Amino acid sequence: MTTNKETETNTFGSTNSDSDIFIRRCAIEDLDGVVEVNERELPEDYPYFFYKSILDNFPESFLVTLDHNSTIIAYIMWRVEKTPSIDSLKYINKGHLVSIAVFEKYRRRKIATKLLMESMSAIKKYKILQYVLEVRVSNYAAIKLYEKLNFRIETIKKKYYRDGENAYFMVLNMKNS
Ligand code: ACO
Ligand code: ZN
Repeated sequence: MTTNKETETNTFGSTNSDSDIFIRRCAIEDLDGVVEVNERELPEDYPYFFYKSILDNFPESFLVTLDHNSTIIAYIMWRVEKTPSIDSLKYINKGHLVSIAVFEKYRRRKIATKLLMESMSAIKKYKILQYVLEVRVSNYAAIKLYEKLNFRIETIKKKYYRDGENAYFMVLNMKNS
């Protein structure tokens, strides 16, 4: 298996203490580690087959971050969805952020920023015109992160979460090219 090695990038530079942290595409063997990060850091848990189906269908934007021990410390996963465009009968591709999380002790080191940037660039080939996501209205850290990457709040989805909390629906529109 050489695919993962080939896509492995050290985007954290070689002169700082993060030089032994790597981002690469998720492999099937990584899913247990992904589940662990999710279960520790987010209240929304998914069954294993859900992660597996995202990995099968959208492997290029399912990324993991590993520490120097090859432990998974963060992940991101997207879905690409076809939706009718507002102004024509054509369909457009939308990138829908399914989930992102970083182990608490590794936060504020731009790991999420890099995961977002690399994964969004990896699905550009689908001619994504819009990237969308839902986030808890109380999730200040995540909202700030998304705003920094130019996502804007479009609407509120009432009682989106099982515990009744509302979600912001955030959108990043790409220029038609
Ligand atoms: N408070 C304020 N601003 C913050 C915070 C915070 N706690 N965390 C991030 N930001 C903003 C800052 O502007 C930050 O830049 P700065 O550090 O230069 O000020 C910028 O976002 C980039 O932060 P990163 O270091 O890239 O983010 P990090 O790697 O810490 O991960 C994340 C952010 C993913 C939200 C992390 O806090 C986390 O895992 N939280 C729990 C899981 C979660 O909430 N995931 C998102 C759910 S929504 C969804 O998945 C669709
Ligand atoms: Zn969603």
